Amino acid sequence: MTDTQQSPTAAGSGASATESFLTGEMYQAARQVPPERVDAVVRAVLDGVHTAIREHKVTYPEFQAAKAWLIQVGEGGEWPLFLDVFVEHVVEEVQAETQQGTKGTILGPYYLPGQKRLTSPATLPMRGDEKGTPLVFAGQVRDHDGNPIPGAEIDIWQADADGYYSGFAPHLPEGNLRALVVADDEGRFEIRTVQPAPYQIPTDGPTGKLIEAAGWHPWRPAHLHLIVSAPGHRAITTQLYFRGGEWLDSDVASAVKPELILDPEDQGDGTRRVRYDFELERDEGARAA
Ligand code: DHB
Ligand code: FE
Repeated sequence: MTDTQQSPTAAGSGASATESFLTGEMYQAARQVPPERVDAVVRAVLDGVHTAIREHKVTYPEFQAAKAWLIQVGEGGEWPLFLDVFVEHVVEEVQAETQQGTKGTILGPYYLPGQKRLTSPATLPMRGDEKGTPLVFAGQVRDHDGNPIPGAEIDIWQADADGYYSGFAPHLPEGNLRALVVADDEGRFEIRTVQPAPYQIPTDGPTGKLIEAAGWHPWRPAHLHLIVSAPGHRAITTQLYFRGGEWLDSDVASAVKPELILDPEDQGDGTRRVRYDFELERDEGARAA
């Protein structure tokens, strides 16, 4: 038990991520998929699997190993982790084909809605002795024509300086390093936080075992997660990374884009500061705000 308190397990994070996904609005909001679409997409997925089996002359022992692994991913609650690392980036790539403005990237499994609402300038909820380099993250939210968007909302969440997310690691206080920050009348925001550490996929679960068996590495570069939104505009889900950080060129989740790399400046007092502006696309389907 003490061990669980100190370092989160794959099973712990997996179960929390599965529970959070199944009860979350992203899944609840998914519309019914028509049968023609299920037929076309599932058939294509199966065709891909069949092709891999033929090309690689997959044997019975390998097939049974795969079956056991799939069962374990489900039992360990790791489907959200696995799919968001190895599949979501392509879904995002397809969505990005129709979205203008700030680049998006994957949501990942650790978003929790309903966090504390703070007005800018804001300090993210954190422990009194929160580790990590203090970071001031400031900017402005504008529309495509450069007009500021007053009261835009920045839903922000991140790992701590040890690479763990609150809500998914039992030793962290609820809501730690998560908030919904409301920008000022000129769409400006300033958020005080600490720099996150790179994130490692839990190595003790089936996803970790697969990564090890394949000789890959389990790391994501350090990142901030954001959903920036405003009435009448299309929300953008994205992440921001840090120039010079480890794993930028080999993110296990393939979610880094060059436009999303921050370049914080040392302020000479141990603090780093960076500015990043967001551009939201007008949502033509939405009523005017
Ligand atoms: C995963 C974790 C993350 O922090 C993230 O941003 C994306 C994916 C994962 O473990 O699946
Ligand atoms: Fe993340």
